[in-house]
Amino acid sequence: MVDPRFSILSEDFAAAPCRYFARLRDQSPVHYEPAIDSYFLSRHQDVKRVLTDHEAFTTQTLQVRAEPVMRGPVLAQMTGTEHTAKRKIVVRGFTGQALQDQIRAIHSNAAELVAPFLPRGRMDLVNDFGKPFAVYVTLDVLGLDNRDWQQVTAWLSGVSEFVTSIVLTPERRQHCMDCAEQLEAYLVPVIEQRRRQPGEDLISKLCTAEFDGIAMSNRDVTALIINVLVAAVEPADKTLALLFKHLIDHPAQMAQVRQDPTLLPAAIAETLRYSPPVQLIPRQAEKDAVFGGTVVPAGATVFCMIGAANRDPDAFTAPDTFDIHRPDLGTARSFTAGAQHLAFGTGLHQCVGAAFARAEIETVAALLLPLLDQVRYSPGFRYRETGLYTRGPVSLSLDFTPVREGVTCHG
Ligand code: HEM
Repeated sequence: MVDPRFSILSEDFAAAPCRYFARLRDQSPVHYEPAIDSYFLSRHQDVKRVLTDHEAFTTQTLQVRAEPVMRGPVLAQMTGTEHTAKRKIVVRGFTGQALQDQIRAIHSNAAELVAPFLPRGRMDLVNDFGKPFAVYVTLDVLGLDNRDWQQVTAWLSGVSEFVTSIVLTPERRQHCMDCAEQLEAYLVPVIEQRRRQPGEDLISKLCTAEFDGIAMSNRDVTALIINVLVAAVEPADKTLALLFKHLIDHPAQMAQVRQDPTLLPAAIAETLRYSPPVQLIPRQAEKDAVFGGTVVPAGATVFCMIGAANRDPDAFTAPDTFDIHRPDLGTARSFTAGAQHLAFGTGLHQCVGAAFARAEIETVAALLLPLLDQVRYSPGFRYRETGLYTRGPVSLSLDFTPVREGVTCHG
């Protein structure tokens, strides 16, 4: 039995959740947390069942977890034809010709951001590069001005805090609501301008698209923009940092990826399996559900533990080993509905940005790796991760061979 005092909300768990995954899967696969009256599922097959049985497990919890700060219903709350139609509009903004144009923008954003650090030979991959990079790229896709990135990031962190906090004090709740209101006030004039003069960006596509012959309201468009901002930024910067961390920790695999960059998609897929940046996905049980003899009662909140499910030995051989060559990785399907890992979720609400995320991280990693020669942790650097819901490195201070001034990184 798991120690009855054990809690997923404890500091011990927060320090290194993966230390507890095997014990949870083996001894308490349906773990109840009384303080938040919620159930945590850690086995791959149970998580997959919850995410694909849309009748029995709904996204109803998002009405209180997300809607207040998204300023309207988000994609993950929708079902049926409304979900299919609106999801298609968003997908169109991130695939085909749109994606080809975005890859060029991703490359130039990355080159511009990394340039000042190259002569110094030191960069914090999370705070100097990854965070601004992920925001820049998403603002570009949406058609927002990336000169506003710092302001948008500040509002966005309040919105994300609301969605991903397990417990929120009234003061923090108020702060998050203020951020959401200011972000909405920033977006509405942009939406109105795009209605008058649509361009090629995603906001214009949302403004001009119709659902059942009716154009979306400002509230609907605002919610979808915030939905994309929240969904796209955080996991992307975390995945990039985790990819570098795992490759630095596994020098032989780093050398292979450097020598053969076509291995990058496998390295990204394995990073997502081994350390998914979205660690929890919430659902609500609509009726009593039984998992291996334990009943989850109707109305209960269920958290799918993606990190634990991705390291289930019933789903992956030697799951605690980072191995970009693992035979059960299935790189090509790792970014599609056929993925065995659950880092993008699965079922109806599986990530719409998976193909884009792959292109984004592959493009930036292919640009950075040759520039960051001999990349290693800076002297004295101590690695630390935070987050229960979304999780990633606090910082990643890297040293590399300084690049002489004048060497250009525009490919
Ligand atoms: C490595 C990067 C990413 C990871 C790990 C990730 C992860 C996820 C996960 C786990 C879900 C499912 C949530 C649920 O079932 O409730 C999701 C949904 C979603 N993601 Fe991503 N995501 C990533 C990048 C992106 C990007 C770049 C975009 C936008 C371009 C995006 C947009 C969305 C949207 C809009 C949804 C909601 C889909 C729906 O409900 O139909 N994501 N993502």
